[in-house]
Amino acid sequence: MLIHAKKASDAASHEITPESVYLNRRGFMAGAAAVAVGGFAGNAGAAVLPAANGAGAFENLKQGYRKLGEKDQVSTYEAISGYNNYYEFGTSKSDPAANAKNFKPMPWTIKVDGLCAKPGTIAIEDLLKPHTLEDRIYRHRCVEAWSMVIPWVGVPLAEVVKQFEPLGSAKYIAFETIVRPEEMPGQRSARILPWPYIEGLRLDEANHPLAILAVGIYGKTLLNQNGAPLRLVAPWKYGFKNVKSIVRISFTEQQPKNTWQVMAPDEYGFYANVNPHVDHPRWSQATERRIGSGNVLSAFEARRTTLMFNGYQEEVGQLYAGMDLTRYY
Ligand code: MTE
Repeated sequence: MLIHAKKASDAASHEITPESVYLNRRGFMAGAAAVAVGGFAGNAGAAVLPAANGAGAFENLKQGYRKLGEKDQVSTYEAISGYNNYYEFGTSKSDPAANAKNFKPMPWTIKVDGLCAKPGTIAIEDLLKPHTLEDRIYRHRCVEAWSMVIPWVGVPLAEVVKQFEPLGSAKYIAFETIVRPEEMPGQRSARILPWPYIEGLRLDEANHPLAILAVGIYGKTLLNQNGAPLRLVAPWKYGFKNVKSIVRISFTEQQPKNTWQVMAPDEYGFYANVNPHVDHPRWSQATERRIGSGNVLSAFEARRTTLMFNGYQEEVGQLYAGMDLTRYY
């Protein structure tokens, strides 16, 4: 178990909040959590408090990040863990949950290389040890035009980046998923994707406070189908940027060649910022299908309007100053 509370008073709010309460309490604040990791006694964090207006908004005390809209409701754990994209385990939405049971996320090490002062191979416990886990409730928008709202537990990517001391020449960060065909049936076919799955960010994107490395959902350790034990979450980008089961982090001068761009350069780019004004060549990106806000997986909501940068424009817009946002990147 990566996530365990040191003592009751340090427990993350969601550990003492049943999932049903989490789902029903539409107005609450996601504070800086205080889950201790691997023997590290984290700071006591803010609790999840009912919001004064109870109107479905939340605020993160630490980051002050953007309020979810009134109609945003946290998706059910059933949906988040049962409707997945993780091609290493198959290409159907139900394949990851069905086929990831034999995947072993522990023990786990991450190789850090490239343009940094502190390269090496580090156990996940040591990578997380200096940091306090935080709750982050984010919209999650897949390029396929479906979306969820996911209560992640993770650490700010910027803090992890700092830990390895990138050199001035490092402009990008690349991430690789593990290759383990004996445990990942999809990897036995090179026709699905070229393995390993690779993703990357510009270093200033990686350093943005909204970007996290997630280790949990709903206060529970990440399930294999969600990318255990460590995955990226950059909520203003299409979901394919959120690379799962990370075993390698590289600091580079050149823009990494991310898997989906290599697979279909006419359809997927490097930046992949959520943008309702730029359609996918085969479908519109103006709207999305919200999944898992009811009690059953099949209860899809009506389509909703997709928001620029997935609703995080105020926070991340300046990263793309000067870019033509009517174009696809
Ligand atoms: N990472 C790896 N290694 N392999 C994948 O197939 N799919 C991506 C992303 N990360 C994928 C991956 C896509 S397309 C999406 S939408 C999200 O993971 C889905 O994350 P979720 O299943 O936890 O919702």
